[in-house]
Amino acid sequence: MTRDEQKPIVVVGSINADLVAHVEKIPRSGETVLGSDFTIHPGGKGANQAVAVARLGYPVLMIGKLGIDAFSDQLRASLRGAGVDIRAVDRVEGACGVALIEVGPRGENSIVVVPGANAKVLPEDIDSNIEILRSAGVVLVQLEIPMQTVAHLTSVCAREHVPVMMDPAPAHELPPEVLRTIRWFTPNETEAAFYTGSGAETQYDSHKQRDALFALGIQGIVLKQGARGVYLADLDGTEAAIPAFPVETVDTTAAGDAFNGAFATGLMLGKSPTESALFAAAAAAISVTRPGAQPSMASREETEALLERFGSVRASGGG
Ligand code: RIB
Repeated sequence: MTRDEQKPIVVVGSINADLVAHVEKIPRSGETVLGSDFTIHPGGKGANQAVAVARLGYPVLMIGKLGIDAFSDQLRASLRGAGVDIRAVDRVEGACGVALIEVGPRGENSIVVVPGANAKVLPEDIDSNIEILRSAGVVLVQLEIPMQTVAHLTSVCAREHVPVMMDPAPAHELPPEVLRTIRWFTPNETEAAFYTGSGAETQYDSHKQRDALFALGIQGIVLKQGARGVYLADLDGTEAAIPAFPVETVDTTAAGDAFNGAFATGLMLGKSPTESALFAAAAAAISVTRPGAQPSMASREETEALLERFGSVRASGGG
């Protein structure tokens, strides 16, 4: 299939400037710690996922909003430079979205997001970009834009028979009619616990979480379990557990976004869900070896090289 014949991936979501401090210890409430360095990177879950797809060489369009401030041009340039089609990224009055991120010594992080312009991604932006959405092979969405927009997007995609992959982050209650429209739902461990209401006894039980999420009407799940790897289950009975790739972790910021972008890309390239999850686990593994969100996204060549080294023995399960 030529690039012109490929149905694009469309991302509807946030674009943030990430203000990142590296710290020896993530501070508790009331505590002050000294950081070792400070950087500003382009980020935002939506923009990161779009860049992840573009770096893998697949066509991708972004629907989102930038503000008019010192970050706006840099954020736009990062998307465009990666190859994301930004014809549906508008500028609005006010500030861009910003994320304050602390990265600890093992690459772990804590993040505060201030939505800024992302709060102005509205239901009418879904309607005004309907042709773009109709052309999509899959639509990726996260929860850093208003919930009314997410709800409208999912109902429009259901009407137009366009599959939706939702990264349910940051965790937020979702109406039942939204949950029922989701083809792929990709929570991390904290989010899986939130959406399944699981206590300590089910927190690490993938099967219980799968059953709870299927009971909500979700059609396919990928649980992103950090160092434990990835668990995939589809309503057709496909099930796979993929261990994490053995890499040296520098910064886990946007590893989940790297995964989602690559999982969608794999599916669009005609890989099975299990193969796509393996491909995505490799892309996410590469992303954690590098600092920052968008700058850490893997290319197709790097991802395939890592898969060649470790991939063939890593998936257990069918599909
Ligand atoms: O998923 C990582 C992203 O979360 C960061 O880039 C930050 O902007 C927040 O949206």
